[in-house]
Order: sequence, then structure tokens, then C-alpha cells
Amino acid sequence: MALLFTGRNLLKGNSATVLAKASTGAVIRKSSWWSHVEEGPPDVIFGVVEAYNRDDHPQKVNLGIGAYRDDNGKPWVLPVVRKAEKMLQEKELDKEYAGIMGYETFRKAAAKLAFGPQGDFIENGLYTTAQTISGTGALRLAANYLKKYFPYDKKVYVPDRTWGNHVPVLSHAGLATDTYKYYNPNTCMFDPEGAYDSLKNLPKNSLVLFHACAHNPTGADPYPEHWEEISKICKDRNHFIFIDMAYQGYATGDLNRDAFAVRQFVKDGHKLLLTQSFAKNMGLYGERVGAMTILTDSKEETKAVESQVKIIIRPMWANPPINGARIATIILSTKELYDQWLVEVKSMADRTILMRERLHEGLEKEGSKLNWSHITGQIGMFCFSGLNEQQVQRLRDDFHIYMTKDGRISIVALTTKNVDYVAKAIHEVTK
Ligand code: LMR
Repeated sequence: MALLFTGRNLLKGNSATVLAKASTGAVIRKSSWWSHVEEGPPDVIFGVVEAYNRDDHPQKVNLGIGAYRDDNGKPWVLPVVRKAEKMLQEKELDKEYAGIMGYETFRKAAAKLAFGPQGDFIENGLYTTAQTISGTGALRLAANYLKKYFPYDKKVYVPDRTWGNHVPVLSHAGLATDTYKYYNPNTCMFDPEGAYDSLKNLPKNSLVLFHACAHNPTGADPYPEHWEEISKICKDRNHFIFIDMAYQGYATGDLNRDAFAVRQFVKDGHKLLLTQSFAKNMGLYGERVGAMTILTDSKEETKAVESQVKIIIRPMWANPPINGARIATIILSTKELYDQWLVEVKSMADRTILMRERLHEGLEKEGSKLNWSHITGQIGMFCFSGLNEQQVQRLRDDFHIYMTKDGRISIVALTTKNVDYVAKAIHEVTK
């Protein structure tokens, strides 16, 4: 019997009942499928973008999302990416599936980029890399794999400030999470002693997540000597290293320096798991290019692990997207493009560092008596300003300046045109 739904709620409030009319004209009641679903909170990061988009004030500034802007406040497509796209277009490639694990050339190039001179195991086949849906897909794949196969307690220890999506990704895959000491709110910098103590006190064989560089949200990175100590402690405690590298090249402007932690861990014999994103360093945000790598002890192990990784990918996204991976591959494997890319990555890092300096100067010029040295002491896309929730709200209400509630500022959204305005506003709300 055909039903004509009126779409009108019969009862007010949370009623599950809607009016429906049978073809005979008789009114019947039909239960709604989704009346029990409550509206959830907006995403901590993308929710800020949505709020910003709803604001039509001419001076509005979006310091929420970590997405690079040029000095005109516009998204920047790297010229090397444009060049790569042209070259690819001329090839008139097909649109076939990349295969469950993705493109072989991309997978190898991504691993080589991360491990550099520590990557001997690549030629020996003691690893497997899967092409993923950017860094988030890499993390989700890693989380699903660890949930199924990590041989000890399946709890991930994350730094005591971490990217807003880390815990959701891990917990949606069924992993428990806890924190280790990382950030010192007094200095707004990395807390080495706290971290060492904390890592020493975790149960042996713990699963520990690190950010390789440009820590999100704090911008507080360990120095090389800190990484050496962290690696040693983790080795002594037999902790498993799960390292997320979303910003290689973006922190210092140098791809090798930014991979220091990853390579130190490998040098010290850690058979780690690495997730990579090409969203930031190639500006391929919406193309969703990433990778997940697991190091193994033997070729047999590689075969077994890779087969299970495939079994996890197949029902999730089946095959990864091809376009962005083709762009990344041609850049990574063509000398002329690769060299150009290095210059362009550095230019993004340099502009970011310059904006840190300008914001710091701006606050001094306004006469702020507070210590803002962490603005220039931190590194990468974000500054963890120390602003509290009320101050963040005032910035939004009174100055149309948007950032995440925790006071994280996306430095790359500052320009020579808006930085003084932002400095003035921050001074106003912190006086
Ligand atoms: C951010 O932290 O703002 C970016 O990494 C974007 C995202 O996906 O959250």
C-alpha cells in the first residue's frame, strides 16, 4: 500500500510519530527512524570554520583551521603542484583503481621521504606502506590495525595536549586512550622532564603516540637532544612508537630536520608505525594524500602484515583516491619538481615564522606587559597562545576573530594586513 507522508509532526517535542496518509485516505501513524538521535556538538576545528563563514563582518579573521594562506589571506596552490597537474594532464592517464594499497611508486617515495638515510630497510623489504586518505585516513587505518593486532594493552598514550581529532580517531576504532606529560602551561613549551618521567612510568610495552614535528595544537616541539632521550626511554621500556608526521618540512622549512624524530627512533632500533600527510607540505588538503607505514622484522612478517592491512582497508575505502597521489608522486620523483617543492615548502615555513614575529612585535607595540615569547619560541602552523575560553569568546564577539576554544592560533592565517588588528584585539582581551 503506497503511503503519502505529510512530513508534519503529529505531536510536538520529541515525538517519534509522523502523520502518513494511506492511498485510501486513512490517516495512520508511522514511527520515525531517527527521532532518538540527538544533535551533536560541532567539530572543534571545522565548527570554527562554519561559525566564521556565517559572520559577514568585513574585518573577520579565521585563525581556526590549520590551512595555509598567502599574504592576501587566500589559499595557496603551490606552483609546483600546478606544474605537476599540467604534466599529468598531458599524459592522459586512465582512471583505473590504484589497488588496495595504492600506487607502488607513491608508497615507496613517501617512505623514502620520511626515513631518508635511515631507510635501508626499504630496499630490504622490511616494511609496508599503504597509501591512505590523507593523515586522518592513515591514523584510522593504524588505529584499526593496532586494535586488532597490537600484542599488549591496546591503550594509546597521547601527549597531554594533542590534535582535536586524535582521540576521536582512536576511540572510534575501539582503542582506549590516556595521556603522558608533554606540554608545560607555564612556559607554553615542551616539558622535557615531565615527559621523561611520564614515559618512564608508563607500563612496559605501552603504545605511545608522538607528533614528529610542528606539534598540533601547541607548536611546542622537543629539541633533538630531547628526542634522543625520549627514544632511549622508550627503548628501555619497550614502548611501541606510533608517530604522526603531518607537517614534514613545514616546521623548520627543511624536510630532513623535521624528520629528525622519526629517523632517531629508527636509528635506535624502534620498529615503529608512521602516519604521514601531504595536506600541509604540498598544500594538497582536499586531495587527501597520506600514507601509513609499519616496519617489520622479516620479509615473511611484511607479507603477513601487509595482507592484514589490505583486509582492513578493503571494507573502509577499498582503494585510495588517485589524483592527489599522482601529483605527490610526480613531485617526489622528478628532480626539477622536487627541487622547486623544497623552495616552496620553505617559503611557507618562512612566512609562518615571519608572522609569529609580527604578532609578537604587534603585542609589544600595543604595550602588552604579558610575556609572549612563546609566540616565536613555538614552531609550525600553530601557536598555543595561552588565551582562555572567555578571551577567545570575546575575540569572536567583539572583534570577529575566530580560533579554537583552547586558544590555538593558526599563525598561517595572519597576513601583513590583519596582524596588527589581531595583535590589538588580543591585547584588548588580555589587559
Ligand atoms: C587542523 O588541525 O586545523 C588541521 O589539521 C585540519 C584538521 O583536519 O583538523
